[in-house]
Amino acid sequence: MISIGVDYYPEHWDEKMWKADADLMKKAGVGAVRMGEFAWSRFEPREGEFHFEWLDRAVELFSQRGIDVILCTPTNCPPLWLYEKYPDAVQTGADGKKIATGIRGHRCYNNADLLRYADRIVDIMTKRYANEPSVIAWQIDNELEANFCFCPDCTESYRQWLKNRYGSLDELNRAYGNSVWSGEYSSWEQIKPPLGSYPKAWLNPSYMLDFYRYASSDVIKYIDRQAAIIRKNCPGTLVTTNMWFCENMPDFHDEFARLDIAAFDNYPVTVIPEDKEEIYSHAFHLDLVRGIKRKNFWIMEQLSGGMGCWSPMGRMPSPGMIRGYAMQAVAHGADKVLHFRWRTAVSGAEMHWHGLIDHSNVPGRRFEEFVSLCRQAAEVSHALDGTKVVSRVAVLYSAQNEWAFRIQPQTDGFYYFRQLKLLHDAFVSLGVNVDIIDENSPLDGYEIAAAPTMYITNERAVKNLYDFAAKGKTVILTDRSGVKDNNNKCIMEQLPTVYRELVGGYAEEYDPIGGGRNTVRFSDREEFSCTGWCDIMTAENAQAIAQYCEGYYAGKAAVLLNDYGKGKVYYIGTIGGRDLYRRIAAQALGERGVKFYDDLPRGIEITERSGEKGSVRFIFNNTDKTQSFALDGKRLELAPFEMLCENI
Ligand code: GAL
Repeated sequence: MISIGVDYYPEHWDEKMWKADADLMKKAGVGAVRMGEFAWSRFEPREGEFHFEWLDRAVELFSQRGIDVILCTPTNCPPLWLYEKYPDAVQTGADGKKIATGIRGHRCYNNADLLRYADRIVDIMTKRYANEPSVIAWQIDNELEANFCFCPDCTESYRQWLKNRYGSLDELNRAYGNSVWSGEYSSWEQIKPPLGSYPKAWLNPSYMLDFYRYASSDVIKYIDRQAAIIRKNCPGTLVTTNMWFCENMPDFHDEFARLDIAAFDNYPVTVIPEDKEEIYSHAFHLDLVRGIKRKNFWIMEQLSGGMGCWSPMGRMPSPGMIRGYAMQAVAHGADKVLHFRWRTAVSGAEMHWHGLIDHSNVPGRRFEEFVSLCRQAAEVSHALDGTKVVSRVAVLYSAQNEWAFRIQPQTDGFYYFRQLKLLHDAFVSLGVNVDIIDENSPLDGYEIAAAPTMYITNERAVKNLYDFAAKGKTVILTDRSGVKDNNNKCIMEQLPTVYRELVGGYAEEYDPIGGGRNTVRFSDREEFSCTGWCDIMTAENAQAIAQYCEGYYAGKAAVLLNDYGKGKVYYIGTIGGRDLYRRIAAQALGERGVKFYDDLPRGIEITERSGEKGSVRFIFNNTDKTQSFALDGKRLELAPFEMLCENI
């Protein structure tokens, strides 16, 4: 069932207001509320003194009204008494100093005292609500980031991770190529996390990539620890956590591997960007979250009002956005969309991050739109029961590549996410479902796998792509593939090294043109501007289907097309604008017989959810202009952010 909900903070409001809130939620059509993620000091105001009666009463109010409850473990914000008693439970920054308390999220994931108290509160809380039928799921902590704490406990945890991975220092020195600059370790104690102000770019990239891997796996260890307690006490209740796109992202695929549902905090922009490449960004995020488990997912926090607190306030969502963006999430596979937050806070650092209802507590335009969203979701809920987004196209994402490009930016303007987004955009703009999946995921069910910049070589992903093409499917590879081994060291072969046979050619040379420009021309004389990077290709078995037009490599191959096994492989040796990728996407879809729409106006998205009972097609206008266009012989006109759902 699709349900629309809200994040509610009973601890922020006089209890006298709760009933009216719950009644209004019921009347509006709210199906689920999330509570508790920052309330530890209310649950345990003094050490060992627990107070859950207030949460019992809040849960009861919702349960009486048939509203589902998602409870969160409150470990994001340990109470100040805990930090006072155990100052080492606070994280240490890269400068070696404890970070300031007063903000949230400052707990150290490896501090034994913190873990003892966290285990205890999670245990008590989950036992208390184990038999409460309205509690349908647990969220662990809140928006967890990879572990960048540099305290002695975390340093020890890091060394232990390295010992488990390499077994001996000789092996580690070899794997990192530490003979450069006398970097060889002769004792484990010499290995330190990247502390201090020394420029990270001067550190060994092999060491840095491992540090990112460790930092990700370490927070996942913390998640798994809480999940184990929840599962013991509440068997059968769903367990998740809420991710977002932050600077220190863990590897999401690993993060959710042992959890039941992927969940995401979705804050689409309230001003439509001028940059045409950004228009399908929200779709990109939603497709990435769905791709984590290749299953429907939840939105734990959804845009409700103007954003801002630590930054100046941004524009309010314009009419249509609240309903449209939430329905867009549903169209991409969300089964629950909870809005952050019910009412805007009147105190605390986030009082200018707006909820559905303003400080005045007078429901206004945004609230009315939310009510109409609940109505629209209820109308389609039945038809969507048991449906999911089935995609024939996959775009491969790799956390390793994301980290490696952060460690060594390739050239000016070269962003991993940009290349992912360009390929995703090409297919989305043609109205087809796209999954963004982990590079290691099996590829069955897909016709096309687009694998941009497969920089760090991972044997499983390489094999998957060869097998996929051999079976008669289509692979799209791009520049900077096969560059590094799994330890972030360069492979001593001509690029794209391990992919040479698949691609049917090699790069004789490359030119990191950064902000410079070149042009690629196809045999039908169609031309596209390119930038960033130019691989100067020699075709072996492949056919060169586009050449560079300018500079000393004018006439040399830029794009190859190879027949490999029963399949086809495209290699795009440069970075184009969206039109270049759209051309290749349309050609590949046509070859594979996947239906697409080549004349959709920019910003129109078409997705489908299918199940045994049939399919629902969603047509969404993700722009602030009315769009009028023809679809399957019918004329459609969609208002800004309007979503049309039709049974097909
Ligand atoms: C999210 C976070 C929420 C709230 C919101 C608005 O990232 O999980 O607790 O802070 O942003 O700022």
